[in-house]
Amino acid sequence: MSVATNHMHAGAAAAASASSFDPAAVRRDFPIFDTVREKPLRYLDSAATSQKPQAVLDAMDHYYRSYNANIHRGVYQIAEEATAAFENARKRVASFLNAASPREIIFTRNSTEAINLVAHAWGRTFLKDGDAIVLTPMEHHSNLVPWHILAAEKNVELRFIPLTSDGRLEVDALPGLLADGRVKLVSFVHVSNVLGTVNPATEITRIAHTAGAVVLLDASQSAAHMRVDVRAIGADFVACTAHKMLGPTGIGMLYGRRELLEAMPPFLGGGEMIREVSLTSSKWNELPWKFEAGTMAIAEAVGLGAAIDYLDTLSMDAVFAHDQALSAYTLEQLATVPGLRVLGPSAEYRGGVVAFTLEGVHPHDVATVLDRDGICVRAGHHCAMPLHEHMGLPASARASFHCYSLQEEVDALVHGLHAARKLFAR
Ligand SMILES: Cc1ncc(COP(=O)(O)O)c(C=O)c1O
Repeated sequence: MSVATNHMHAGAAAAASASSFDPAAVRRDFPIFDTVREKPLRYLDSAATSQKPQAVLDAMDHYYRSYNANIHRGVYQIAEEATAAFENARKRVASFLNAASPREIIFTRNSTEAINLVAHAWGRTFLKDGDAIVLTPMEHHSNLVPWHILAAEKNVELRFIPLTSDGRLEVDALPGLLADGRVKLVSFVHVSNVLGTVNPATEITRIAHTAGAVVLLDASQSAAHMRVDVRAIGADFVACTAHKMLGPTGIGMLYGRRELLEAMPPFLGGGEMIREVSLTSSKWNELPWKFEAGTMAIAEAVGLGAAIDYLDTLSMDAVFAHDQALSAYTLEQLATVPGLRVLGPSAEYRGGVVAFTLEGVHPHDVATVLDRDGICVRAGHHCAMPLHEHMGLPASARASFHCYSLQEEVDALVHGLHAARKLFAR
């Protein structure tokens, strides 16, 4: 049935069949860059959200135009087509992350909700007074605040893996943090959305497991850019968000190891997550539907499936190599701007994220000056206030890349930064 299989865009196939990765060819698959506007769009904010290829837009449009119906309910044809497309997206996610089964993939709204699901359903059930959780100072607020709420309720201690001076994790300190046997969870970010650091997820998971701790990996910035194999890494929970993966907003994913998900109570109650309901009690549905209450984001799941097909066509290894090369080039070029401080480690340890400050110019002013040339960068704390406090900064500016980002966009950024410096030096 054609609607249940995700579309592959001809442009992506052309880009992928080229002998080397060609970001200019990839970019032609993203209609936003063709839109006529006063100034060219130089989009350097893919860590906030990615742009969407034609294939994703087509798949969602096709769903709404051709087989829009609620899922898991209807016996008529388009309801069955919609259900098949939704469940096919789950299978695509499972194979993309190399999960053992699609039953281990729970659809959520985003990675924030995926982490909250674990904090509520696993944390409230299995953590007790006196337990401890290990986090890192480079977490996004979405991997801090759910644990703050839980820690206050349960009297759970929060511990942090220290940072090196160049913004990497001091993994050697982890065994010491785990030594008293009180740590039940180690939850950490795979790729920092500020420092760009790629953390050694497999090593951290291995160390955490030797102490009997459960591991949650925040893959919001990694699954979109590099190969994330949940079984090779060994993490028990992995949170991802589709809108950073060339997919739509409104859908995210939690991978959870089956035994853990089976042992957890539901997160939200309502339709679909039940097997049987009486006036006074309910029995839960089986995995993964136990955790999917109410009508799900069906068009978004279809769009996510198309995004994964598109990424697979490009190859995640090629996407990551492109991000890394662009970051290395950016670091080299930024070194020519007087008063510019790059946050985070050298190119070999980072993905496609480069945050920086410019002496004497507030990051918001930097972003405003760059916008005059159509350059989109993020300014602020990037939902990582504790990390900025640790670095003694109120805010930073950030450039971040994806498969469609071009070297000439970095050149425009560097040119704009020289101009900003001159403007504010007056
Ligand atoms: C590292 C990291 N974790 C979590 C999130 C939260 O993603 P979402 O807002 O899609 O839930 C982000 C988003 O910027 C992120 O960069």
